Amino acid sequence: MSVMNRFRLDGRVALVTGGNRGLGLSMAKALAEAGASVAVTSRDEERAQEAARSIAQATGQSAQGYALDVTNASQVESVVQAVAEHFGKIDILINNAGINVRKPVEEFDEASWDLVQGANLKGPYLCARAVVKKMKEQGWGRIINLASMLGLVGLPERIAYCSSKGGLIQMTKVLALELAPYNITVNALCPGPFATEINTPVINNPEASKYFLDNIPLGRWAEPDELGGAAVFLASEASSFVTGSSLTIDGGWTAR
Ligand SMILES: NC(=O)c1ccc[n+]([C@@H]2O[C@H](COP(=O)([O-])OP(=O)(O)OC[C@H]3O[C@@H](n4cnc5c(N)ncnc54)[C@H](OP(=O)(O)O)[C@@H]3O)[C@@H](O)[C@H]2O)c1
Repeated sequence: MSVMNRFRLDGRVALVTGGNRGLGLSMAKALAEAGASVAVTSRDEERAQEAARSIAQATGQSAQGYALDVTNASQVESVVQAVAEHFGKIDILINNAGINVRKPVEEFDEASWDLVQGANLKGPYLCARAVVKKMKEQGWGRIINLASMLGLVGLPERIAYCSSKGGLIQMTKVLALELAPYNITVNALCPGPFATEINTPVINNPEASKYFLDNIPLGRWAEPDELGGAAVFLASEASSFVTGSSLTIDGGWTAR
C-alpha cells in the first residue's frame, strides 16, 4: 500500500465524543475527509445533529449525531449500540469529550473535582469498555484518548484537570497492553493550547494569555484544524505499529 493510502479511512466508522464543536468537530471532519463515516455526540441532541449535518455537507460522508453524557454508563452503552446498528460496526473511538475547572486548591470544591474526573477520566473508561467487544469481534480497532500536555506537565490551579489527563495517559498504556492481542491500538493525543471554547477564560484574561504565549515556543495559539493530521494518523493504517504512545501537539511547550 502506498504511504498516502495508509492514511485513508474509506469504509471505517468513527465515534467522536463531544464531536459537536472545538477539537472534536475538527477531528471528526478530518476523519470524514479521509473517507470515514462518523458519529458525533453532544449532551444536546440538536447540537450533535447540527454538527453531523455540517460534516456530511462539507465532506459528502455519512454522519450521525447522538445525545450523550459520557459519565452516564447506560447512555454510553445505548449510543454505542445505536452507532453499531446504524453503521454496522465501530472501528475508531475518539474519547474527546472533556472539561476544565480552574481554581486554587483551597477553593476547589468536591463537585468541581467530580465533574472534571467524571468527564475526563470516567467517560473515556466507560466508552472504551463499551466499544471493545465489537472491536475484538472485528479484529481491528483504534482508540484515541484526548489527554493534554497538562497530563505530562503541571500548571497551577488545574488540580483536577492535570490529574485527570495524567490518569488518562496511564489508562491509554493499560488498554494498549490489554488490547494489543486483538489488533486494537490505543494512543493518546496531548494537545497544547488550542483556541477553543474550553480556553475562553484564558484567552480573555490578558495576564493568563501572555503567560501562555510566553511559554509556547511557536509563539501562538493553535487552530483546531491543526489536530486533524495527528487524529487521522492514529486512526489509520499509517500508525499500525503505534500503541500506548502519547503524541504531543503543543507548539513545543513540553520540550522545555
Ligand atoms: N483546547 C485545548 O487547548 C485543549 C488542550 C489539551 C487537551 N484538550 C482536550 O481536548 C478535548 C476537547 O477540547 P475542546 O478544546 O474542543 O473543548 P470544548 O470546545 O469546550 O468542547 C468540549 C466538548 O466536550 C463535550 N463534553 C464535555 N463534558 C461532557 C460530558 N460529560 N458528556 C459528553 N460530552 C461532554 C462538550 O459537549 P457538549 O457541551 O455539547 O455536551 C464539547 O463537545 C477535551 O478533552 C480537552 O480536555 C483541549
